[in-house]
Amino acid sequence: MERTFVMIKPDAVARGLVGRIVARLEEVGLVIERMELGTLARETAEANYAEHQGKPFYEGLIAYVTSGPVVRMVVSGPGAVAIARKLIGATNPADAAPGTIRGDFGLTLDANVIHGSDSAASADREISIFFG
Ligand code: RTP
Ligand code: MG
Repeated sequence: MERTFVMIKPDAVARGLVGRIVARLEEVGLVIERMELGTLARETAEANYAEHQGKPFYEGLIAYVTSGPVVRMVVSGPGAVAIARKLIGATNPADAAPGTIRGDFGLTLDANVIHGSDSAASADREISIFFG
């Protein structure tokens, strides 16, 4: 059993896509262990995206993920990290395959619908940032 951290980003929450996205995760058998709705504090967003500090897109990314409510989740199941990343699809929705969450619900790299941890180590780090 493995845990991963998944966050539905502000554009998708504002567009009323929470139920459909959660269903994608549940349909394959992943289990939602924790789920919270709320707007991220800047410090929380900065901690989550610390690896990108200093990159040209960093300030826009932080402004975007703090721009409105997000839904953050702990999701579990066998191979949950890789399975969630597969369901989420490529970072840029323009490259994400049809049938993936970003491929089906997104258009642009900036507002790309959803975040999922990229490794088991990232998942542990992110779960502790968001859920203690
Ligand atoms: P995420 O962390 O949000 O799940 O996305 P990811 O692993 O697929 O991609 P990552 O490389 O971690 O990038 C984090 C977020 O930054 C934005 N980004 N913009 N303009 C750019 O070149 C650029 N590259 C990344 C995206 O919104 C991405 O989700
Ligand atoms: Mg990432």
